[in-house]
Amino acid sequence: MLYPIELRVRGAKVVAVVARGVKRARLALSRARRRFGKRLFLPRAPLVELCADKYRFTRRLRALRLPAPATCRVGSLGEIDRIFARLAHGGAPLWCRIRRGAGSRGAIAVATAAQARSWISYWRDMRGVPVTAFTLSEFLPGRDLGCQSIWKDGRPILTKTYERLSYLTSGSQPSEVSSVPALTKTVREPEIAALCARVILALDPRASGVFGVDLRQDANGVARVTEINAGRFSSTTNLLDLTGKHNMTAVYVALATGEPVELADEYDVAEFHYLLRDIDAVPRILREEEFFDGVHDARHATPRKEPAC
Ligand SMILES: Nc1ncnc2c1ncn2[C@@H]1O[C@H](COP(=O)(O)OP(=O)(O)O)[C@@H](O)[C@H]1O
Ligand SMILES: [Mg+2]
Repeated sequence: MLYPIELRVRGAKVVAVVARGVKRARLALSRARRRFGKRLFLPRAPLVELCADKYRFTRRLRALRLPAPATCRVGSLGEIDRIFARLAHGGAPLWCRIRRGAGSRGAIAVATAAQARSWISYWRDMRGVPVTAFTLSEFLPGRDLGCQSIWKDGRPILTKTYERLSYLTSGSQPSEVSSVPALTKTVREPEIAALCARVILALDPRASGVFGVDLRQDANGVARVTEINAGRFSSTTNLLDLTGKHNMTAVYVALATGEPVELADEYDVAEFHYLLRDIDAVPRILREEEFFDGVHDARHATPRKEPAC
């Protein structure tokens, strides 16, 4: 979803865009930048475009010697054996996914070349996705981390970090992992925040707007960047807005409308806060110690006396 907000600041019309989802709309707006002048608070169109293609993005990061999973494009089904020989080591699976789109579309771990061929053929035949839209990457088995930051003209203003612990509908999908977490927690990871700042600056020294970096640790616990959502707020934003010292969306809107913001390179962490989401349930933010409020251990309950009849 994209939320353009029209405001009047000191008599002038200002457009702030609080964006979530739909990459194409963000790109169209960013491309039409000249018509908006300074009023559009989105990253530059070439950067939005680069981030929209996960294969091109991963290649750029690796060319810059920044940590991203080794990734190959699938040119044809016949290439898959060769890609497995190159990327799969010690029986580890590979991560198969579609280079464009969100929500882990077409993403799954594959243990063999035959599994990858079947999965990709299925998507080609049943969902109309061409074979060449797929990539295979080295599998990252570690922690699933996120870092959202707000930037203005190449300066980091506010950064928050979080970890995805479980995923919606993971029980009924082929892949247990997805982009939509059921349980997320705030974490203090200054090295992750610093790495994400390095990555964003390397891609655009004049970065402006919101950047959501997704990372996953490899087998050695080293975090690698799997994607950047450039100009788009993460669905975890409620957790980041409502915990810590600063509300990220409020800071974003203040910057977009040219209001004074007294922050500079602020890493804002309120640890041990959780965002709990489920289908047909109101999302909740809890502190760790609140998890068992109202929950009683049935083992210590005194059995109720049955009424005598
Ligand atoms: N190489 C990989 N190995 C293991 N899991 C991965 C890999 N790349 C991405 N993932 C998982 O897939 C999820 C979605 O990937 P991501 O890069 O964030 O794309 P998107 O959210 O656009 O689908 C991530 O949260 C991560 O857990
Ligand atoms: Mg993601």
